[in-house]
Amino acid sequence: MQFLHMLDETVSHMKVFRLNLKRARGIRSDLSISDGGFTYKRGGSSYLREIELLHIALFGAPLLGFLRFIYRFCAPELMSVVVDENDKLIAYDLFFFEPSEIELNVLHELYVGVRADYQNRGIGVKLRRYSASCYENSSLEGLSTLAHFDNIKALRSAQKSGYAITKKSAKPPAYYLYRPLHKRF
Ligand SMILES: CC(C)(COP(=O)(O)OP(=O)(O)OC[C@H]1O[C@@H](n2cnc3c(N)ncnc32)[C@H](O)[C@@H]1OP(=O)(O)O)[C@@H](O)C(=O)NCCC(=O)NCCS
Repeated sequence: MQFLHMLDETVSHMKVFRLNLKRARGIRSDLSISDGGFTYKRGGSSYLREIELLHIALFGAPLLGFLRFIYRFCAPELMSVVVDENDKLIAYDLFFFEPSEIELNVLHELYVGVRADYQNRGIGVKLRRYSASCYENSSLEGLSTLAHFDNIKALRSAQKSGYAITKKSAKPPAYYLYRPLHKRF
């Protein structure tokens, strides 16, 4: 029974991986911003190791295996990073196509994280605004994200970067936020 469950999960993760591979192609413009000694730019798989370490430090758990797979292949389209002058990772922002939002043409902002020693300096808000601007004038209708009820910084940084609460999600217990985008076509 457990084996069947694992098999089922693996198959559905493979489907999500293939969906992201297909939909991510050419979805984002190649913007780069310099601000306060940091560079905000599109990601690359070379940052994955640093992101995984920072993710564990911030969330206490590693990225799920299938997500690692997605970012190994789609990092330039679905990942933003903030780096210092030595190209060292300060923050990351990860997006993915969630199957339930595909019909709506919405891309989901899954994880955003800023190194603990750089938090509360406005980097989180700037990063989220930067990422959203990279998806403006694409074929997407909008971006979505979740902010857990007890994560006020996640909520405020999302609201300050243009997202608004549209509903509540029970599992996980969180606000669901949406940010419309200007469509190219
Ligand atoms: C959430 C996170 C990305 C925000 O990044 P950050 O760089 O620290 O945030 P910013 O400094 O850009 O902005 C946070 C905003 O929340 C506000 N804020 C912080 N604590 C607050 C509180 N207790 N009540 C009200 N507002 C609060 C800040 O004042 C700031 O708004 P301001 O610019 O008007 O002052 C960062 O804290 C982080 O990495 N957290 C751990 C990972 C996480 O929880 N990610 C989000 C879920 S995926």
